[in-house]
Amino acid sequence: MKNVIFALIATSLCLKSFAQDPLLHNAYHRASTSLNGNWKFVIDPYETGYRNHRNWMPFDVMESTKNSARPYYTDRVIEERWDRVEYNFNTSDEIQVPGDWNSQDRMLLYYEGSIWYRTLFDYDLEGDNRLFIHFGAANYQADIYLNGNKVGQHLGGFDPFNFDITDHIKAKGNSLVVRVDNRREKHRVPNYTTDWWNYGGITRDVDLIEVPSTYIQDYSIQLDPANPREIKGYVKLAGKALHRKVTIRIAELGLQHEVDTDETGLASFTISAKKIKRWYPERPKLYAVSLEAGTDILKDRIGFRTIETKGADILLNGKSIFLRGISLHEENPLQVGRARSLEDAKLLLGWAKELNCNFIRLAHYPHNENMPRLADEMGLLLWEEIPVYWGIDYENPVAFDQARSQLEALVHRDKNRASVIVWSVANETPEVPSRLTFLRKLKEIATAIDDTRFISAALERNEKDQQDVVKIPDPFASEVDMISCNEYIGWYAGLPQKCAEVTWQLPQDKPFFVSEFGGGALYNHHGDSLTRWTEEYQEYLYKEQIKMLKKIPTLRGMTPWILADFRSPRRNLPVIQDGWNRKGLISDGGFKKKAFYILKAYYDEMEKRYAYKIDN
Ligand code: GCU
Repeated sequence: MKNVIFALIATSLCLKSFAQDPLLHNAYHRASTSLNGNWKFVIDPYETGYRNHRNWMPFDVMESTKNSARPYYTDRVIEERWDRVEYNFNTSDEIQVPGDWNSQDRMLLYYEGSIWYRTLFDYDLEGDNRLFIHFGAANYQADIYLNGNKVGQHLGGFDPFNFDITDHIKAKGNSLVVRVDNRREKHRVPNYTTDWWNYGGITRDVDLIEVPSTYIQDYSIQLDPANPREIKGYVKLAGKALHRKVTIRIAELGLQHEVDTDETGLASFTISAKKIKRWYPERPKLYAVSLEAGTDILKDRIGFRTIETKGADILLNGKSIFLRGISLHEENPLQVGRARSLEDAKLLLGWAKELNCNFIRLAHYPHNENMPRLADEMGLLLWEEIPVYWGIDYENPVAFDQARSQLEALVHRDKNRASVIVWSVANETPEVPSRLTFLRKLKEIATAIDDTRFISAALERNEKDQQDVVKIPDPFASEVDMISCNEYIGWYAGLPQKCAEVTWQLPQDKPFFVSEFGGGALYNHHGDSLTRWTEEYQEYLYKEQIKMLKKIPTLRGMTPWILADFRSPRRNLPVIQDGWNRKGLISDGGFKKKAFYILKAYYDEMEKRYAYKIDN
């Protein structure tokens, strides 16, 4: 019993003791030193470098519990331990950062476990500046050590994080060691099973960011939904002298606004927005915005728009719109592995534009920050979500804490992006009481940070009774701004002609949105329209789905599943799937299937039907 208690204490210590540093907002535009490149790596499936082999306890926690007076972070030198236990970074192989490990080494294609990375670098830190290390993401748990000191731990596979490393940096020969573990575990988010590849590793950019001793840590600058003729915002300083003047500039508007932060470094403000040109997909107007606090000057590019519902309508800047969307995973099918570059983002969003989309569902987790930044520039609206996906350990506060921290990081990272209009807190989650409580709390958390965007979730229809009257009995449907559901009539439920046999029963006072429909087809596999896995079947399915959905008076958009074929360990039908989910409208070779043109024709029609005049 004693061991169980010790283990519980240790687990909670482990999770609490390496608390996150607040995110550096707009790290994207800060001057930085990239640590991308080839890092040394050591594979560690038995956790030799992380856990005591006698009691399976992490060395870090053992250090902290034994010497509670000392900070939790161990000061054990990782390299020394590795050399002693017959590992040596210096003579190990190299791996590309950023990049999942699965696609870089055939031995690692299915690997789920721990890998240790190391890179060496010099750094001259100026005066009393602070130095942060910033990760775009690492899947799933990351433990960060600098010169043998533990600087932090992050849990979550798709959200950014940073740690202040000022106290551990030296001018020459810094040794940065990162342990990443991508195991699927009950209390993680997502946990045991997903329909995507569990790409592990440091999957996004790693940067060193130097800031003055007093720096701009966070800000929000958006139109006030209650009074769109004004910008409502706040700025938050961190560091030393927190009570100081901050200047917000929008030069193109000749706008300069000064505020004084309080003793916590916070100042709220409203700025007249009369002359502002609104952001539209057809005219994605972005303004150069700068914030100055002493010597810290931070620049951003921000679009200003409003988004709201009015009965069943979705209004963008007061104009009724239809979301001509498509879902996509963070994967460029032409190269294998996690999409990681701006070029990958340009390819995926370029394909969406060819489909005549004005909306993208970034499924099922926060994507690389390249995507919302590029969507701002290209004029694409976005649905973003966290991987509260299928069965999560809804009764476990540790699981909730991980969902919460991923949602907070996503909303904080993208709250100034005009393209983002939906925060989604779940995908196809079971209707049990603990899940409803879990989702309600997530909705409150997102709204508390940002009340200018929709809250939604990809719910499910009443599949159980296979009724021909389709409803969404999920109680969470009454708590979201846009009712969204996944439905696979014609693929998992009946044949495409079933679409003509069903009627939909939906609330009439809210927009209805289909967050997934679709079916599989192997590119260039042909046959009649009732032969599954042919392009003809997928084409027929899209025709029947569109005919069915057109009849729903409150339908205001859709994101069919999915833009491109993607890798999944659940899809192993020989010859047809071979580890790929084939519901893409574009093949893994980048070729468009017949159904692509059915959806494009529908979107061309909806673009005309919902055309509006841009008045400012
Ligand atoms: C589900 C799920 C997707 C999955 C898809 C499919 O709705 O949300 O992640 O890939 O169906 O079965 O292909």
